[in-house]
Amino acid sequence: MVKLEKNNVKVEFRGVNFCYNEEQILFNVDFKVPSNRITALIGPSGCGKSTLIRCINRMNEVIPMSRMDGQVLYNKENIYDKHVDVVELRRRIGMVFQKPNPFPMSIFDNVAYGLRLQNVKDKSMIRETVKESLVKADLWVEVKDRLDLSAFRLSGGQQQRLCIARALAVNPDVILLDEPCSALDPIATARIESLLKKLKKEETIVIVTHNMHQARRISDYTCYLFGGKIIEYSETEEIFNNPQNKLTKDYISGEFG
Ligand SMILES: Nc1ncnc2c1ncn2[C@@H]1O[C@H](COP(=O)(O)OP(=O)(O)OP(=O)(O)O)[C@@H](O)[C@H]1O
Ligand SMILES: [Mg+2]
Repeated sequence: MVKLEKNNVKVEFRGVNFCYNEEQILFNVDFKVPSNRITALIGPSGCGKSTLIRCINRMNEVIPMSRMDGQVLYNKENIYDKHVDVVELRRRIGMVFQKPNPFPMSIFDNVAYGLRLQNVKDKSMIRETVKESLVKADLWVEVKDRLDLSAFRLSGGQQQRLCIARALAVNPDVILLDEPCSALDPIATARIESLLKKLKKEETIVIVTHNMHQARRISDYTCYLFGGKIIEYSETEEIFNNPQNKLTKDYISGEFG
């Protein structure tokens, strides 16, 4: 298990159980996400990876008949406390999905969306932030002359970087990515990977991936989830070079299923 100094813990699960209807999906999950690192979540389809990361920004709550118990702490505070402002929480903890989901509007408006939602009125500030976010997301050069174009006109890889820019524009602290590259080709994937490595200087990153090579290339820590339980969680090199649990070993060597 990963041992972290208290001050380096950004998110912490304490005894989290999660059910959809009567079916339990997560079992007593204890999990610490380190600040300014990339943590990969791996595990077979249906093991609960998406459910687990959706607990971090309370995205699961919108699912009827779902129930969670235990605690998820963000900066040492339980995000499920009654007084927590969920809109603000989701600003601090942004999310990028498997399928790029730009909004039906221009490139510029996509990135400006969150700022406008926050009622930012200063146009030059919005323009600056849009540019900055697109630069950070490694998309600026490709779109700077066509910011008014519909976001749907971009390629899949560009759309995914646009979604990252949109998440970055509201200055998040944590970015959750649920298989962000699974619909992308190797070149588009490589661009996102190098982008994430840069972003971890300022943000904490949690990424779900089915791609073992990807987990190995980009993450500092890897967590192996199986049947809704954390089987092993360690430094990435350790998990891949010296897995302690047979289940982990089987999964990473492709013997699973
Ligand atoms: N909205 C929902 N209502 C009911 N059951 C759900 C819901 N979402 C997921 N589940 C169930 O919860 C379990 C875990 O799903 P989850 O999406 O977290 O898995 P996953 O590890 O992300 O899988 P994948 O790798 O295929 O994305 C699955 O059995 C799934 O069928
Ligand atoms: Mg999933």
